[in-house]
Amino acid sequence: MPRTRSVTVRAPAKVNLQLSVGGLREDGFHELANVYLAVSGYDEITATPADRLSLTVSGAGAERVPTDESNLAARAAMLLAKHSGAEPNVRIHITKHLPVAGGMAGGSADAAGALVACEALWNLGVTRAELASLSAELGSDVPFSVLGGAALGLGRGEQLTPLDCGATYHWVFAIAGFGLSTPAVYAAQDRHRQEAELPFTAADMPVPQPSAQLLDALAAGDPQALAASLSNDLESVATAMQPDLAKTLAAGRASGALAGMLCGTGATTGFLAADAGAAEHIAEQLMASGTCSSTLVAHGPVPGPVLL
Ligand code: C5P
Repeated sequence: MPRTRSVTVRAPAKVNLQLSVGGLREDGFHELANVYLAVSGYDEITATPADRLSLTVSGAGAERVPTDESNLAARAAMLLAKHSGAEPNVRIHITKHLPVAGGMAGGSADAAGALVACEALWNLGVTRAELASLSAELGSDVPFSVLGGAALGLGRGEQLTPLDCGATYHWVFAIAGFGLSTPAVYAAQDRHRQEAELPFTAADMPVPQPSAQLLDALAAGDPQALAASLSNDLESVATAMQPDLAKTLAAGRASGALAGMLCGTGATTGFLAADAGAAEHIAEQLMASGTCSSTLVAHGPVPGPVLL
């Protein structure tokens, strides 16, 4: 029996510990070696029975989130309804805390949260693993957003293998006053490779591989070793597109972070801290530096979407 009352889910953000970008494929995506970590910043997604599908958004950056059927959470509800023969008669409300166009998979978190909330509302008995595989057609990061934890993502990021984490890692995220478009950052990386007369298509480039050093550090629970092995191939092109990011990275590194890096395709930057106390200090220093609009102190790994 479907439920008659609302279901609310909180869905976490992610940071990429490794984002290695291989060649451009014929389908327009890049081959990736992606190491994902889910972190404790959340959007909330509420699903309420209704006569038809509708979606509203409140919270930080809500005015920049579409509320029509292009919204990933609305698409997620339609996909799950189609998959299970249900009608997508649901009102979805998203409370945004995660940055919009921030490289922390906020849109993917909303899609994952909508899948989990609608699955519970309609009482479908679809497993988390089935939701994850179904969700790949919504976006490359959505399967990870459904599962959470830590995982290696190959292919375009959607082929997941869960990873061991030997510790909880503490982070500060510096949220920029601007966003960066994911396709624009990937396209800039391709242009950069072409201009440097480097190979850039999947046919001409090896498939990127996960860093053994990074996976060992992650499993060992050693923040110093993890800091030394973080990498994001898109950081230099994103910084060229938005030079202010270099100032944020410098401010975070100067305030005692073990490492600083671009999150995904940006525009958020992430700083690994030695412990929770250091993270609070780095967040204060980053705000005082005036190089970001807000900060988020978080830890990971955390599970995927959870019913509240
Ligand atoms: O999968 P998703 O819809 O999130 O991807 C958004 C855009 O990011 C794609 O249209 C593509 O331009 C770029 N992308 C990519 N390679 C990937 C993932 C995303 O080029 N592996």
